[in-house]
Amino acid sequence: MNLETHLAGQAEDVKQVILRISDVAKTIRGGFATRQGASDASNVYGEQQAAMDVWADELLISELRDSGLVRYVASEERPDMLTFQDSTSDLGVTIDPLDGSSLIGVNLAVGTIVGIYRGNLLSPGNEMLGAMYILYGPLTTLTYSLREGVHEFALNDRGVFCLQEENITIPEGKIYAPGALRRDYLPAHRAFIEKLEEEGYKLRYSGSFVADVHQILHKGGVFTYPPFAGNERGKLRLLFEAIPMGFIVSQAGGSASDGRRDLLSIKPEEVTQRVPVYIGGKREIELIVNMNKE
Ligand code: AHG
Ligand code: MN
Ligand code: MN
Repeated sequence: MNLETHLAGQAEDVKQVILRISDVAKTIRGGFATRQGASDASNVYGEQQAAMDVWADELLISELRDSGLVRYVASEERPDMLTFQDSTSDLGVTIDPLDGSSLIGVNLAVGTIVGIYRGNLLSPGNEMLGAMYILYGPLTTLTYSLREGVHEFALNDRGVFCLQEENITIPEGKIYAPGALRRDYLPAHRAFIEKLEEEGYKLRYSGSFVADVHQILHKGGVFTYPPFAGNERGKLRLLFEAIPMGFIVSQAGGSASDGRRDLLSIKPEEVTQRVPVYIGGKREIELIVNMNKE
């Protein structure tokens, strides 16, 4: 079954937005060979943008603008939310055009992360319509959830996203993907990581959030980019990274937290907000929440 057929029965505008983004993903997939290297610009977080970051952002924004299907768009690569005044739609979309882009130059997996809302983008994740991500690895896969299961598609040699796995649920598994420097860990997080290590969790961390969470979704365990000495809000972005990926793993029977509260209950205050991230199995997330209470 292909993606379009699988989306039959969903609201037409949401379906079209997902299909258009899936088409842009095919173009992005084709750009890696010729668009290696850095751009000469930095984003709002002070990070130098890769050429692919800038290009993927422009492709996605112009597709969404031209579609007329979306009113609000926020991108990790832009400081402000965009409002398309001539659109009559009330859909809002968040994008991390290329997550993990520091790995492009070493040919590791990177991805595109998307959140979909009715209306205001500054809404808690538990009010979102759905989320999706595209992973550019040996295969290009697209994983989406519109609150009716988590489903994954792979791009075939005819350029069609075909169903690979339906109703994914996160298994129990002993993998941990810990961001940040160990020397900067705060006490509860340090105790959490030590407990996982005592229990025999294996380290799997690539530096591409979307790829690392994708692995956890399929194999179980926990991804974390914690609060750390110097930045108690962590590194990852609430709107562009944490909420959409946390939503998908939660829909797959897992859980997402900032270490204290459900990540999907947090009401964003600004588009650039950072948040500590714990995403994975329910057991692991309960463990860090309890350790933060001690
Ligand atoms: P992006 O490429 O969109 O800027 O995101 C990078 C993020 C995320 O993908 C990854 O988990 C994390 O930054 C890696 O940070 P460290 O290099 O500190 O591990
Ligand atoms: Mn990112
Ligand atoms: Mn990015």
